[in-house]
Amino acid sequence: MITRKSTTIALLTATFGFMLAFSACVQSTEQTETQIESYTPGLAVQMKYMQYWTHKVGLSIEAENLELADFYHHELEEAAEDLIDSIESYDGYPIAQLTESMLVPTLDALEDALDEGNWSDVREAFKAVIISCNSCHVATDHGFIVINDGFGNNPFNQEF
Ligand code: HEC
Repeated sequence: MITRKSTTIALLTATFGFMLAFSACVQSTEQTETQIESYTPGLAVQMKYMQYWTHKVGLSIEAENLELADFYHHELEEAAEDLIDSIESYDGYPIAQLTESMLVPTLDALEDALDEGNWSDVREAFKAVIISCNSCHVATDHGFIVINDGFGNNPFNQEF
C-alpha cells in the first residue's frame, strides 16, 4: 500500500515536472519563431543581397552557364519580391512601386531571354537590368551607387 502510494506520488511529480519542462520548451520555441518572423532587413541590407545575386547572374552569363544563370536569376527575382513586400517607402521614395515598375519588367525580360538561350540577347537583357538598378539609384537620389556588369577583376560589380 505504502509503496503504491509513493509510486503514485513519484509518478505525479514526474508528470508535473515533465509538463513544466514541456511548456517552457514550447514557450521558448514560440519566442524564437516570433523573433525570426519579425526580422526584416533594412533597405541597404536588401540592396546588398540584390548586388550579390546580380553579380552572380552576371558571372554566370559571362561563363555562359545557363543552369547557374537561371538559378541566380531566380534568387534575384525573389530578392526583388521581398523588397516589394517589405519596404513600401524610404526617405519619401516609393521603393516598392519603383521596384515593381523599373526592375521587375527587366527581370522578366531576362528570364525570357534565358529561356530562349541566345547569349547575345541574354547579355542585352542583363544590361537592361543593370540600367534599371542605376536608374532607380538616380531616381532615389543615390546616383553615386553605380552598378556594372561585373565582368573582369574588380571583386564587386560596382564602380568606385
Ligand atoms: C527602388 C529603387 C531601387 C532599385 C530598383 C534598386 N536600388 Fe539599390 N538602392 C536604392 C536606394 C534608395 C539605396 C540606398 C539605401 C540606403 O540609403 O540605405 C540603394 C543602395 C544600393 C546599394 C548600396 C548598398 C551596398 O551594400 O553597397 C547597392 C550595392 C545597390 N543598391 C545595388 C542595387 C542593385 C544591384 C540593383 C538592381 C538589381 C538595385 N540596387 C536596384 C534604390 C534602388
